[in-house]
Amino acid sequence: MLKGTFPIDQFKALTTPFYYYNIDLLKETLNMVTTEAGKYGYHVHYAVKANANPRILSVIAEHGLGADCVSGGEIQAALDAGFPAGKIVYAGVGKADWEINLGLDNDIYCFNVESAAELEVLDELAAAKNKVASIALRINPEVDAHTHAKITTGMKENKFGINLSQLGQVLDLVAQLKHVKLIGIHCHIGSQITDMAAFRGLAIRVNEIQEELEARGLKVENLNFGGGLGIDYYHPNHLPVPAFDNYFAVFNKLLQLRPGQQVHFEPGRSIVAQCGSLISKVLYVKVGETKKFCILDAGFTELIRPAMYDAYHRMENITNDEEIEVYDVVGPICESSDVFGKDVELNRAHRGDLIALRSAGAYGEVMASQYNCRKLPKAYYSDTL
Ligand code: LLP
Repeated sequence: MLKGTFPIDQFKALTTPFYYYNIDLLKETLNMVTTEAGKYGYHVHYAVKANANPRILSVIAEHGLGADCVSGGEIQAALDAGFPAGKIVYAGVGKADWEINLGLDNDIYCFNVESAAELEVLDELAAAKNKVASIALRINPEVDAHTHAKITTGMKENKFGINLSQLGQVLDLVAQLKHVKLIGIHCHIGSQITDMAAFRGLAIRVNEIQEELEARGLKVENLNFGGGLGIDYYHPNHLPVPAFDNYFAVFNKLLQLRPGQQVHFEPGRSIVAQCGSLISKVLYVKVGETKKFCILDAGFTELIRPAMYDAYHRMENITNDEEIEVYDVVGPICESSDVFGKDVELNRAHRGDLIALRSAGAYGEVMASQYNCRKLPKAYYSDTL
């Protein structure tokens, strides 16, 4: 029973809302991803953007993963948590000079370059330090991820990456620059992808891109497929670790690797989502004319995914098992979008009951804000509570 997975007595002493992380489940997930990737010698860089909590980062670093960063702040957080610089990759459509310099000074493994304009700046900054930056070109593979529009990235209308039709020009530029070295190609098609067909399409497209590179006499050391593996936000009884075995098997089956070539991945959500819950308290039950509202002390300031992407997070009353009632579960923020779910079935809610919003370990705490002058949520961990 899920309620058993929470230390309710300890929770009662804590100020809500807060994030609670099940560290055993995180470790189990990490063991699974490293075992499954290890079967094929694939390299896994955790996407720090999903959760940059220092404790979570250090557990992930201890399991030997690399880090995928999107800002100077994330590079620093990854270094502080113990990720070796040689296992850090850095993507981002708007890298500022100081961020590029931080990457160069630490000799990170690779810059995932998103435009010709960025390439020229990187070359210039590397030249000033007498260094050669290793780069991968982030390409828009034009594979539709069939996910929410706000988290689709691999199409030519998105701001990310280099369009296939412009790849030739960018490769010509790379050939002219002396302070960048092309070591790979990089793609990321979107997030919360549960249909393996999208990844099959990606693997096939990358085979074609490789042929194009070879036609130009180019060989790359590594192929990076980004992240995107989705999780099951609806699972009623337990929190399953995503099917990493099926995911990696897709690439193993379809990719036409050249001798010595490395394969890289950048999962974020699938590693941390299931281990985190947002714990909040019922402030009021408000009985309206047509609806019953369960008003929580957590709002979109703590978990923005429902408001921003119409996302669903399973909600549970972890304080009592009274009969099921139907509520619109909402937060206290002064915006009508501050709704966690409509017509949600919950064990009858009373003022003071604790409500868990499950699978909130990814893009939860890290996207919290202080809108309405609220305090950022604290975090607690199963092994230190
Ligand atoms: N690599 C790159 C280049 C990315 O842009 C992303 C995510 C990842 C890896 C990790 O993707 P994941 O395995 O987590 O799907 N805030 C949104 C998700 C935004 C994802 C942005 N990029 C949400 O809460 O659903």
